[in-house]
Amino acid sequence: MTQATARAYPNIALVKYWGKANEDLILPAAGSMSMTLDDFATTTTVTLDETDSFSLNGAEQGEAGASRVIAFLDLVRNFARTAGLDTADQNARVVSVNEGPTAAGMASSASGFAALAVAASSAYGLELSIRDLSRLARRGSGSASRSLVDRFAVWHAGDDQSSYAEEIPAPDMAMIAVPVATGQKAVSSRKGMVATATTSPFYPAWVTSTEEILKEMIGACKDSDFTLVGEIAETHAMRMHAVIAASRPSIRYLSPTSLEVFDRIAQLRADGIETYGTADAGPNVFAITRPEHAEVVSERLRDLTKDGEAKVLRPGRGAHLVGD
Ligand code: DP6
Repeated sequence: MTQATARAYPNIALVKYWGKANEDLILPAAGSMSMTLDDFATTTTVTLDETDSFSLNGAEQGEAGASRVIAFLDLVRNFARTAGLDTADQNARVVSVNEGPTAAGMASSASGFAALAVAASSAYGLELSIRDLSRLARRGSGSASRSLVDRFAVWHAGDDQSSYAEEIPAPDMAMIAVPVATGQKAVSSRKGMVATATTSPFYPAWVTSTEEILKEMIGACKDSDFTLVGEIAETHAMRMHAVIAASRPSIRYLSPTSLEVFDRIAQLRADGIETYGTADAGPNVFAITRPEHAEVVSERLRDLTKDGEAKVLRPGRGAHLVGD
């Protein structure tokens, strides 16, 4: 096959990834855990072509915009070469459409590289397992490794072979997206991680405590203990923002409105509607609740959003070829 189309969804971490053990191979300093969403898809078509090119949401990308995608294609070509495939010397056209708010920091690099891993490996004729696709997607963006997996994923720390994501059982839940701002974030995750690891005095404690809390989270998921899952998720998100804020110079991703959302979530809990919050490297918050409370939570958080919409999201499917 010389053309393939894949679709992938973003994932939101309940135990966060923040810091690398190896920058080149994108190996995380600690494991993490996430829910794959069922909306904000990225759909990517890869077609073998005369030259490498990349179009995103209808806009042709220049050298800077295409460089990470082309570096990823080089990786796929290396795999094709090792597998003895004669596609290894061919260039490719990549056309991506993102249904999520790309600039809003809604985990678009995760769905983007997960879809690209599936589409490109197929177009180049590689037949990879989900595990190997997860390892491949990891090389584009760490969190993308988790978007290969249906519903709930654990991404293991380890070496190039052993650092992949796999599905774990977890209690059923809903996430409510609370977008409070658009626009590019001030410091990219990639740069923010390096700054944290090199300047935050709390970083070693962050890494060791993340491994401990991940074990606790996996246990809570196995026991289908939604309360413990929620408590761990909110605590761990706050710890991530704390270790980041302790960088020098300080980095702050949460805005005053983000904190208002966390206060509102605490109020929901006080009112008996069990809800927890999490936020990635940006001001947008995701509320976690039991499915039966999703609509009420969305209603109660709506006025704090940018556009008056707090979308209800459910566990979704891992990256897959369209037509599969
Ligand atoms: C805060 O996966 O975007 O969303 O591996 O450098 O591409 P790179 O970083 P990326 O970082 C995601 C960080 C996070 C937490 C998480 O998703 O676990």
